[in-house]
Amino acid sequence: MSNDFKPTNVLIIGGTGAIGAYITSSLLSAASPKPYTTLSLFTRPGWDSDPSSNKAKLIQHWQSQGLKVVTGNVESLDQAGFTQVFEEGKFDTVISCLGRATLKYQPKIIDAAEHSQSVQWFLPSEYGTDVAYNEKSASEPTHVGKLALRKHIREKIERLKVTYVVTGPYFDMWLYPIPGYEQAGGFVPSEKKAYVIDDGEGKVDDGEGKVGFCTMWDVGKFVTATLRHPTQSFGKALKVQSFIVTPKEVLAEFEKQTGSTFDVTETPLPEIQELEEVLWDKKSDNPQPNPQATFVTLRRIWAQGGTLYEKNDNEVLEVKQEDLDTLEEGVRRYLAGGYKAETFGVRACSANL
Ligand SMILES: NC(=O)c1ccc[n+]([C@@H]2O[C@H](COP(=O)([O-])OP(=O)(O)OC[C@H]3O[C@@H](n4cnc5c(N)ncnc54)[C@H](OP(=O)(O)O)[C@@H]3O)[C@@H](O)[C@H]2O)c1
Repeated sequence: MSNDFKPTNVLIIGGTGAIGAYITSSLLSAASPKPYTTLSLFTRPGWDSDPSSNKAKLIQHWQSQGLKVVTGNVESLDQAGFTQVFEEGKFDTVISCLGRATLKYQPKIIDAAEHSQSVQWFLPSEYGTDVAYNEKSASEPTHVGKLALRKHIREKIERLKVTYVVTGPYFDMWLYPIPGYEQAGGFVPSEKKAYVIDDGEGKVDDGEGKVGFCTMWDVGKFVTATLRHPTQSFGKALKVQSFIVTPKEVLAEFEKQTGSTFDVTETPLPEIQELEEVLWDKKSDNPQPNPQATFVTLRRIWAQGGTLYEKNDNEVLEVKQEDLDTLEEGVRRYLAGGYKAETFGVRACSANL
């Protein structure tokens, strides 16, 4: 690959998902010159079977912005099938935004890219917590799948360039408490309630511990910026952040914007760790983890400082602070309904229709 590589034909897999929709939308609305010539979405067949569905409306809106559509299923398509998809579309860059349920198919997909004649650059599905933050990271149950893929890449991938975009928690999601496990953190403005984790050792100090966040819109911006900086990004896990704030600063912003005082529940970190033991079913010989275990563990990792760096990589991508969302903007959006009520498809469609 030459040193002046620039993405030409880009394929996004999982681009209609929770974060994928923000990434696809950001890439399509990128300022000219765009960081690609064509952008294609790999989505399951049947996406257009109900034209009134949000997904169909969203993809059709994106098509009007120039998106091409390739259909297939990551479960049933084998490695040779993927290689054929990549070569037929002359895709040189592949962005995976697959969700946790389909991360297990990524080794097959990246092997197909490695053995293709076309793909040069692959961005695996990360967009989250730094799975290699410190020596404890390897034993976090939430990190197993992504770490296994990184190992696979180190051992089996020689030709492709790979970049991981590590964003930390999505501020928009972190604001919502986990139903039934509110003590792991979140804000309920309708009840004027806030939940924060206190590590009990003075480190997190009653919601005073800093957390580095990305808003979901900014994740899209950072992936777009990554595509504009190929050589600076090759072989890296880029740590990018919208803002770094404490839960107490978030609380103050809620109280300012709503003009109300919130009732705050502080839960000591050891209680969260005990809850994790139960949710992961650790004492059982045949553990049956609760689906919410992942989210409680991630919130504990974030509260313990697992998103903090001496310096992040925003500058590597030449993304300036003034181009990013602020705490104020994030809280304002949440109070307006948040990402759940945002119904991304409808919003994205109505913005331009
Ligand atoms: N930092 C955070 O706070 C945070 C929060 C959530 C997730 N994440 C990370 O973000 C990444 C993406 O997760 P997500 O929650 O956004 O994903 P998701 O919404 O669960 O799924 C993404 C897409 O995968 C595609 N998909 C599912 N099954 C498929 C199949 N059999 N064949 C083809 N495509 C299939 C679907 O696309 P189609 O319907 O178009 O086929 C779906 O829209 C993950 O790495 C996750 O860990 C981070």
